[in-house]
Amino acid sequence: MKGKFIVFEGIDGSGKTTQINQLSKWLISTDLIPENNQLVITREPGGTELGQSIRSLLLDNSRKNSPDAITELLLYAADRSQHVNEIIRPTLNEGDWVISDRFCGSTLAYQGYGRKLDLKLIKALETIATQGIAPDITFLLDIPVEESIKRRINRKDDRIEKEGREFLSNVSIGFQTLSKNSKWKKISATKSKEQIIIEIQSEIKKLIKNK
Ligand code: TMP
Repeated sequence: MKGKFIVFEGIDGSGKTTQINQLSKWLISTDLIPENNQLVITREPGGTELGQSIRSLLLDNSRKNSPDAITELLLYAADRSQHVNEIIRPTLNEGDWVISDRFCGSTLAYQGYGRKLDLKLIKALETIATQGIAPDITFLLDIPVEESIKRRINRKDDRIEKEGREFLSNVSIGFQTLSKNSKWKKISATKSKEQIIIEIQSEIKKLIKNK
């Protein structure tokens, strides 16, 4: 792949959106992205038009019947397959950069550690959905579960966020485990916005140097 693929992960309320905005502003102001290339910001679930419909099936909590755990897993995989084929792979092939708010790590953390589905099954679906596309770096914005709950107090929970404290704790343990991978960088998201972006910028510079 010619472009760079950067992913942000974390439990709900970890500040991914803020940091993605800060990083994209900074990247555009530098010459790290080649002159004729661009930066594409996307997300899962819902990075494509089809994915928007899948997102609503997954997260809308006003539906009478919610998907069972395996159906939920398959819907996240379907969203990812479409996202990779329609957006991520063609963009990277052009040499453009992609920042995605969530990717495979979220499925391992939420459906694996949260819902307790078989990690091997999740990884097999990941292989099918991604066809070998993997992030160059994944940032885990790490906040304690209590802080996540506090930050979201005035927000309406989606269907997954409604699962409660124990579920979220298991998801958080999942993310901690995944972040031990050398392609992940865990950043404490209780630090100031300014401190966090400095750490992210430094990791991106390292990534370019080591290419
Ligand atoms: P968002 O609110 O960050 O857009 O994420 C949507 C919700 O979907 C969030 O609660 C995490 C959840 N999720 C999963 O459970 N599995 C996945 O694979 C992904 C991508 C998200």
